[in-house]
Amino acid sequence: MRVGVLTGGGDCPGLNAVIRGVVRRGVQEYGYEFVGFRDGWKGPLEGLTMELGIPQVRGILPRGGTILGSSRTNLVKIDGGIERAEENLRKLGIDALIAIGGEDTLGVATTLTEHGFHVIGVPKTIDNDLSGTDYTFGFDTAVSIATEAIDRLHTTAESHHRILICEVMGRHAGWIALHSGMAGGANAILIPEVEFDMDEVVSWVESRFKASYAPIIVVAEGAMPKGGEMITKDATLDSFGHVKLSGIGEWLAQQVEDRTGHEARTTVLGHIQRGGSPTAFDRVLATRFGLNAIEAVKDEAWGTMVALKGTDIVRVPLQEATGTLKTVPIERYDEAKSFFG
Ligand code: F6P
Repeated sequence: MRVGVLTGGGDCPGLNAVIRGVVRRGVQEYGYEFVGFRDGWKGPLEGLTMELGIPQVRGILPRGGTILGSSRTNLVKIDGGIERAEENLRKLGIDALIAIGGEDTLGVATTLTEHGFHVIGVPKTIDNDLSGTDYTFGFDTAVSIATEAIDRLHTTAESHHRILICEVMGRHAGWIALHSGMAGGANAILIPEVEFDMDEVVSWVESRFKASYAPIIVVAEGAMPKGGEMITKDATLDSFGHVKLSGIGEWLAQQVEDRTGHEARTTVLGHIQRGGSPTAFDRVLATRFGLNAIEAVKDEAWGTMVALKGTDIVRVPLQEATGTLKTVPIERYDEAKSFFG
């Protein structure tokens, strides 16, 4: 069996741990051969490959990023893209493909499956917004980094009696903001799922100052004020139609400063949340996903994705993962609200 492996979309701590799990078990237990595809779906599209065997995966478990490279190439949007990729996969003698990615990468995997190609999906995103799995690897690392940043912001905010705003990633889902804000004791958490009321935010900020604490606001990049719109960096779209977000933190700082008279500053964590070494939790989850993905190949469970349910790794149809986004339920947000203000 000749198995292709690719990583697509935004990178994520733990990708290398998945690749290592796949290759180690595949070679040692089943004698499979592997082909690494470079830069997401660009690899199959242009026939860009790299050698992938046990020597290539040695020492990569704690390393961030992906040894295969990644991109947001969307085969479905390229004229004849799916057909070109299929032809290259056939020419290279690929019997099965393991696609490690988020909603977009796995959406392309679903289309390839519908064309009859043998694909297994592995869920990846720091945003934790993929359906069908309780958690994605990378999320725990992103939350740990954001929590550490919030802890640091608390002490400097208090020294200067300032409002400090921490903008975290999360385009449509506020999981990183919710978890890091809760773990870091934020004064307010603003997420894309719930439009925020500026008067309410101002009242939370003022009540925090009354208690002699400096307010920390954690805001997801996709959060929006009531009746407002997402704030974007510029108008360019990637091949999956996503705009570049960022700016809500600065906008919010201006608003609260104008309305409370207290100085407000913003820290945008950006790609710091995505880079670097995965936490132990993410290393274990990613490794288990890798090991189970190769079992799915052996069982010919084509069109499925490995997923975490409780503490078990299960298989779910790829469509389940890509159909709808897993957003923060209102009950989870209401829990966090007990600490606002
Ligand atoms: O896909 C995860 C994500 O981290 C989003 O939260 C964020 O909007 C996006 O990636 C940023 O991606 P890029 O690195 O392409 O700007």
